[in-house]
Amino acid sequence: MTEVIGTRTTSPASTTSPDVAAAAAQFLSPVVIELQALAVNGKQAHWHVRGSNFIGVHELLDTVVDHAQEYADTAAERVVALGLPIDARIQTVAEKTGTTAMPAGFQKSDTMIQAIIGQIDVALAVVNKAVTELGEIDPSSQDVAIEIARGLDKDRWFLFAHISE
Ligand SMILES: [Fe+2]
Repeated sequence: MTEVIGTRTTSPASTTSPDVAAAAAQFLSPVVIELQALAVNGKQAHWHVRGSNFIGVHELLDTVVDHAQEYADTAAERVVALGLPIDARIQTVAEKTGTTAMPAGFQKSDTMIQAIIGQIDVALAVVNKAVTELGEIDPSSQDVAIEIARGLDKDRWFLFAHISE
């Protein structure tokens, strides 16, 4: 794939076919959007949660935020590694996220946990779609989505255990 032009050597941005890169961008971009939204709303919940179990929920929400940022980075860098850009500007995230509104201000922990579980479920929908759609097209991109799905399922469980009977 590397071409020598005169004395200059040029390499393509990626050796992956443009169709494969486009599919990875198509299905991983919504994943990045929802994970960035989860990170922002997770911090909102981290700062405003209240209740007798405050410290545990406060710290768990920060872990959820850390994971969301880490997963967003993994998904975004997969697309960029294939030679395509990601649009995760704050305006784009706000326009495209499917998340439901977060409650404003201080809230009891059950309310905050429900809100963040709702945000995780929105993210899981696009992550699971990426897992389904990318398997035939690009197993490496599918693997990124699978890893994220597994992590979000676990964070959802840790949150849900606080509010289940
Ligand atoms: Fe903090």
